[in-house]
Amino acid sequence: MAQGMTDLISLYEDRIADGMLTRDDAQEAVLPQFERIRAALAEPVKRGFFRKAPPPPKGLYLWGGVGRGKSMLMDMFVETLDDIPARRVHFHAFMQEVHAGLHKAREDGVEDALAPVAEAVTKSVRVLAFDEMQITDITDAMIVGRLFDMLHAGGVAVVTTSNRHPDDLYKDGLNRQLFLPFIDHIKEQLEVWELISPTDYRQNRLEGLPVYFTPIGPEAREKIREVWADLTGGPAEPLALQVKGREIVLPAFRNGVARASFYDLCGQMLGPADYLAIAEAIKVLVLEDIPQLSRNNFNEAKRFVILIDALYEAKVRLISSAAAEPEMLYVEGEGTFEFERTASRLREMQGKDWGQ
Ligand SMILES: Nc1ncnc2c1ncn2[C@@H]1O[C@H](COP(=O)(O)OP(=O)(O)OP(=O)(O)O)[C@@H](O)[C@H]1O
Ligand SMILES: [Mg+2]
Repeated sequence: MAQGMTDLISLYEDRIADGMLTRDDAQEAVLPQFERIRAALAEPVKRGFFRKAPPPPKGLYLWGGVGRGKSMLMDMFVETLDDIPARRVHFHAFMQEVHAGLHKAREDGVEDALAPVAEAVTKSVRVLAFDEMQITDITDAMIVGRLFDMLHAGGVAVVTTSNRHPDDLYKDGLNRQLFLPFIDHIKEQLEVWELISPTDYRQNRLEGLPVYFTPIGPEAREKIREVWADLTGGPAEPLALQVKGREIVLPAFRNGVARASFYDLCGQMLGPADYLAIAEAIKVLVLEDIPQLSRNNFNEAKRFVILIDALYEAKVRLISSAAAEPEMLYVEGEGTFEFERTASRLREMQGKDWGQ
């Protein structure tokens, strides 16, 4: 093993010894799978001048319930890759890039528009680690199928996390039969592994923690910073969502957790479809700086009501800082009656068992 390189099993043990992680048999059981991939890639590449890329090791499709530690393990795996070029990216963000790349290649008149997109990846990395693979439309389904084949041919190992077994991807989707061959490819190219841990660690971390901070100020900001660090374990990236042909951007996102200010989400011209898309895309929302609402910001209040409804229905966990307690946020102006439901939901969403 090259100097400075740690394998994932040792890294996991270290984190347990440091008290950062609780030992989990199901997590331990999957570590050799990641390790298998790292070890294969750490072998020196015997690539002749004209020879094709060597076939990649079988990748890994890690799936299971929320909060089981899939993204965390994948992040740790990427850390252990050291000088093996790898890219860790949210599946959704990657697909946006692919669409942009396809668009450009078509403009340039490239016959197979996907080829340069795949080549850009195979030239730069040997591991592509996708977080939260999900397929929601047939265009993506078809693109992803071919792209995975091209990545495989180009020697790139794919590692991905998902909440569903491959057989349940794009379930009940339109023209799903077109997607079925791709499911077979996934099963051939990736080891499908369920992380069957009984523990939802995200829930555990949030349990008993205050999740509603008032008033707004340095203290609330610091608390929120701590919760963010605890839940995400890494730097944020923006996440762009396509809604009815428009793009909305969540400024900061990682491992299912998004962070935005009240102004970002309720101070802009967003509507119900946007809030539904946001609620669908995330598991936890950190919403900062909810102001005192009044007649003067009636539109913001109205949007806030819709946002909370969408989050509530999708069972998204909410962590927020606000100028006042929920019941006191909006007490004068049109729609105060409707706001009572919002306040009550805000209370319920603070409950220890909420979101399970
Ligand atoms: N063994 C563990 N001990 C302590 N904390 C853990 C452990 N495993 C995971 N966690 C923590 O639990 C939280 C959720 O983990 P993670 O985001 O990896 O879950 P996930 O399986 O990817 O969930 P989802 O399917 O919702 O994306 C993170 O804050 C992570 O650091
Ligand atoms: Mg995850």
